[in-house]
Amino acid sequence: MTALANHLKQVIRREGAISVARFMSEALGHPEHGYYMTRDPFGAGGDFITAPEVSQMFGELIGLWVAAVWQALGGPKKLVLIELGPGRGTLMADALRAIKTVPRLSSALDVHLVDMSPALRAIQQRALAQTGAFWHQRLEDALAAAGDTPTVVIANEFFDALPVHQLIRTEEGWRQRLVGLDAEERFVFMLDSNPTGLAALIPPALTDAPMGSVVELSPASLNLVGELARHVLRVGGAALIIDYGHSMPGVGDTLQAVKGHGYVDIFETPGEADLTAHVDFATLATVARQQGAAVFGPLEQRRFLEALGLRLRAERLAAVSPQRATEIWAAHRRLTAEDAMGTLFKALAIARPGMAIPGFST
Ligand SMILES: C[S@@+](CC[C@H](N)C(=O)[O-])C[C@H]1O[C@@H](n2cnc3c(N)ncnc32)[C@H](O)[C@@H]1O
Repeated sequence: MTALANHLKQVIRREGAISVARFMSEALGHPEHGYYMTRDPFGAGGDFITAPEVSQMFGELIGLWVAAVWQALGGPKKLVLIELGPGRGTLMADALRAIKTVPRLSSALDVHLVDMSPALRAIQQRALAQTGAFWHQRLEDALAAAGDTPTVVIANEFFDALPVHQLIRTEEGWRQRLVGLDAEERFVFMLDSNPTGLAALIPPALTDAPMGSVVELSPASLNLVGELARHVLRVGGAALIIDYGHSMPGVGDTLQAVKGHGYVDIFETPGEADLTAHVDFATLATVARQQGAAVFGPLEQRRFLEALGLRLRAERLAAVSPQRATEIWAAHRRLTAEDAMGTLFKALAIARPGMAIPGFST
């Protein structure tokens, strides 16, 4: 049994069954035993690979996107660039290298990183040693540090790690799915017999879903997007969210655990497997619009990256390093193909109304 499973079982014995969101948030973020708190999960020897780890081209294009947003803002003397969940710091390192081609922006930038993981923060500090970057535990601390300065926020594969509640439609109405223990002290799903106030968050299109349907709700994500929208409306700027998920509200259980590049049972090794849920882009967009922000996308990652010039960048890199051409085109494929990251991953941007946001015109 993992240390985190042990801890969660004690919590359930003491407090009763817990929400799926609590299970997820402890599995990922428990200060001692949480998945992200103790390890570097990326790459061949780890559990999964993300777009910036697939190729430098991803971060470079995001860097150019930041430069284009800065230009659309009128090239302000100061720009705060915040990244949520920077992982190994690879995206930011590649983005800053691309941004160096725009010296005025390079010197205008203050870089802020938000990550809860001490283990990953140490890796980020090495990757971004010369950048003068600041680190924060929470978005609100980074936004407070940004003050009134125009701000660009980027988040790649961050929102899928934010906890989701699961609600199931029953004859008695929507009920919350909980995690409890069976007679042999194994984790099991069960249903809360009481109604839940979370049902008020179910998108209108789903309230009459067929009996047995599962709806996932992430109040943590909605709060964060609300905060982002209010901030960019107040100070100017934009936020870019790239993640895997659905463009339309939908039903279904998308909670998944990944370990060693394969799926595992979510109850098998909590704290030692990554736990994610698909991002509900439609609801994030609705929340941002309710705050008065303009929303761009969600757009499939392949379209977004090609609009930013991915193919051209791959051609250039392959021409400069012909010995790496096969690897470069394999990365291009991985980022854009339908059977890889091209369509499941999507990009969504939030900005002040009236601003032109690069990459979303197709
Ligand atoms: C899947 S990784 C993505 C890393 C990186 N963006 C990339 O694309 O390679 C998720 C990152 O978000 C951080 N993270 C997850 N949940 C968080 C939370 N609630 N608050 C702050 N950081 C969090 C993790 O520590 C990790 O750095």
